Amino acid sequence: MKTLSRTVLTLFVLSFSCLAAIAGEVSFKITKQYLNFPISHKENRGRMTFEVNGKPDLSVVIRLAPDEAEYWVFKDVSAFKGKTIKITYDGNEKGLSKIYQSDEIEGQAELYKEKNRPQFHFTTRRGWINDPNGLIYYEGEYHLFYQHNPFERDWENMHWGHAVSKDLIHWTELPDALYPDHLGTMFSGSAVIDYDNTAGFNKGKTPAMVAAFTAASSDRQVQGIAYSLDKGRTFTKYDKNPVINSKEKWNSQDTRDPKVFWYAPSKHWVLVLNERDGHSIYTSSNLKDWKYESHVTGFWECPELFELPVDGDKNHTKWVMYGATGTYMLGSFDGKVFTPEAGKYCYTTGSIYAAQTFTNIPASDGRRIQIGWGRISHPGMPFNGMMMLPTELTLRTTKDGIRLVNVPVKEVESLCKPLRSWKSLSSDEANRHLKEFYDADCLRIKTTIKLSHATDAGFNLFGQRMIGYDMNSNTLNGRFYSPQDPTSMELSADIYIDRTSIEVFIDGGLYSYSMERRPDTNNREGLHFWGNRIEVKDLQVFSVESIW
Ligand code: FRU
Repeated sequence: MKTLSRTVLTLFVLSFSCLAAIAGEVSFKITKQYLNFPISHKENRGRMTFEVNGKPDLSVVIRLAPDEAEYWVFKDVSAFKGKTIKITYDGNEKGLSKIYQSDEIEGQAELYKEKNRPQFHFTTRRGWINDPNGLIYYEGEYHLFYQHNPFERDWENMHWGHAVSKDLIHWTELPDALYPDHLGTMFSGSAVIDYDNTAGFNKGKTPAMVAAFTAASSDRQVQGIAYSLDKGRTFTKYDKNPVINSKEKWNSQDTRDPKVFWYAPSKHWVLVLNERDGHSIYTSSNLKDWKYESHVTGFWECPELFELPVDGDKNHTKWVMYGATGTYMLGSFDGKVFTPEAGKYCYTTGSIYAAQTFTNIPASDGRRIQIGWGRISHPGMPFNGMMMLPTELTLRTTKDGIRLVNVPVKEVESLCKPLRSWKSLSSDEANRHLKEFYDADCLRIKTTIKLSHATDAGFNLFGQRMIGYDMNSNTLNGRFYSPQDPTSMELSADIYIDRTSIEVFIDGGLYSYSMERRPDTNNREGLHFWGNRIEVKDLQVFSVESIW
């Protein structure tokens, strides 16, 4: 019934607003905010191109459903109101007639209430997301740009999606910020504020927010910049892009993911770029002309490079370099060359990938705040991927040397309400108490366990191993882990359970890992400690509020 009435409505809308409709093509006047598109994964991808008032606008691939849609995606066309849009499609043209415009996205009423929508992690309304991009704080807002395919819940058509937050926790999704262009699709990158107008994009007293991104085509990846004078809402691409084209130098197509920051001691910009087999450093005085300086091998994708005090001492700092995974080097940096001194070490594993840290965090705050992509899917949902909890990175001296420590930012606490807490329980007692949370949706659990035998012990959720600690081989969920006091036989964990994900921070963030939440459907145990006569020394359960 619903589909029938929508079809009738669509025909009605199109017949009124249609200026022309020929095979594989429709054109009509934009009067509403959104175009809604039906998607079916039974269809192959076809190329869809948009023209606005006769000018080419966007070209993407999409699986337009000719019949029943599995889900709907949308494109915000408010900027085109009053103009004529022409849509051409080389796939099954039957689906074209189902595209309709509206001031609501299809499924609006259900938004953020969907069964498998993460409740305290950022997800996009529709489509696929991967890496966070352009993380920046500016005038009271944290900006989260991200790799986004607005047209399907699988990877393709990379745009920069955009969301803003005042507290790192509650996010408002805005229209996409960067769209594919003649140089390619928009791969990962970063953003800075050009306070000194080095690039000449500023207007009056308004400094430009400058995004550096990779434009990827089938045979090369080049670096471009774009600027925004309206707090990241709209961007203008620099007309002389690309600013770096290093394919030839590296004889490689893998040259991508520029991370830009201001290096104050030498008053120049630094751009770290992943090229072929590691991270290169470029410098510039104006964000447009870049000079190659140096290269560190051994990293893949999504470079990061930043300075951190050791144990909070501003006079004793180290530089941290990492790529898309949770392995890093420590070293020194003179503005042109990163000299590794130690590593690689590993601070986090699991679902997290391509984490990036915020630029322009006020000195009065001073934190190094990170967000990583959660490679987590949400069964049956019209969206895929998510952002992991924002975390704070610090350097601490440990028994093994200086190490990176990763804990959720303090703002996350505001979502957590203490429900129950116990001390010194046997695992049976703990499991009995935890029955109360058998049907829990979202939870945070803090616990310290003490082993009595140097063999396996841990903590499960419906058979899924949130903690599996083996003190014989010193492995924690399969990875080597040695606690600070190797004789204590204790392990503490701060666990965040959302609808589709689990994040575990061990021993105050000395190690962390994440996974999809995938309960064994035949398991009836719920939350369950196990191990030979272990002691649950401390157990605290919190509810976690929804951010939506
Ligand atoms: C990492 C990555 C980046 C690239 C982007 C494309 O996940 O492969 O290197 O820019 O994703 O979406």
